[in-house]
Amino acid sequence: MTQIQLTINEKSQTLTVPPTKRLLDVLREDLALTGTKEGCGEGECGACAVLLDSGQGPELVNSCLIPALQANNTAITTIEGLAVTQSAEASDDPLIPNTYSLTTALHPIQKCFLEKGGAQCGICTPGMILATHHLLDNYPNPTMAQIQEGLAGNLCRCTGYMRIFESVQQAAKLHTQNS
Ligand code: FES
Ligand code: FES
Repeated sequence: MTQIQLTINEKSQTLTVPPTKRLLDVLREDLALTGTKEGCGEGECGACAVLLDSGQGPELVNSCLIPALQANNTAITTIEGLAVTQSAEASDDPLIPNTYSLTTALHPIQKCFLEKGGAQCGICTPGMILATHHLLDNYPNPTMAQIQEGLAGNLCRCTGYMRIFESVQQAAKLHTQNS
């Protein structure tokens, strides 16, 4: 067993892991970050994609292929790191007086996937959204060819891809409007 340090969704975590444990399993089993999905388990589908920054900027990686030990001292963003949970109005629920309810604000890319029907069963969706995030970081106003290339490592069995591409185009429009 080896101790590693990871920054996950901006929070520092110290974990003790066996040498062969995959980053995917550390995220899902040790940290309960089950938004990261397992599809093929062989680096082919992108369902397990996360953003990993080892100091050179975030890269899109398949967490099923990465031993957790190899991710030591990196910063990782999972799908849970995109939505923002924040305090909302004081709750008017009489059962919880003097407390604040929590609300989760979806990331604009997540909203675009919802609005444009880019998600159906949802297995591919976390990876698709993180791939889109990475794409828009590099190409804020991508062409269709760049969108297709940026999502080429992410497979979807449900949508036929057109709605996903439209979701990305919508997210790109918002991204350029807001930057
Ligand atoms: S589960 Fe990792 S690429 Fe398919
Ligand atoms: S929405 Fe089902 S695999 Fe993509």
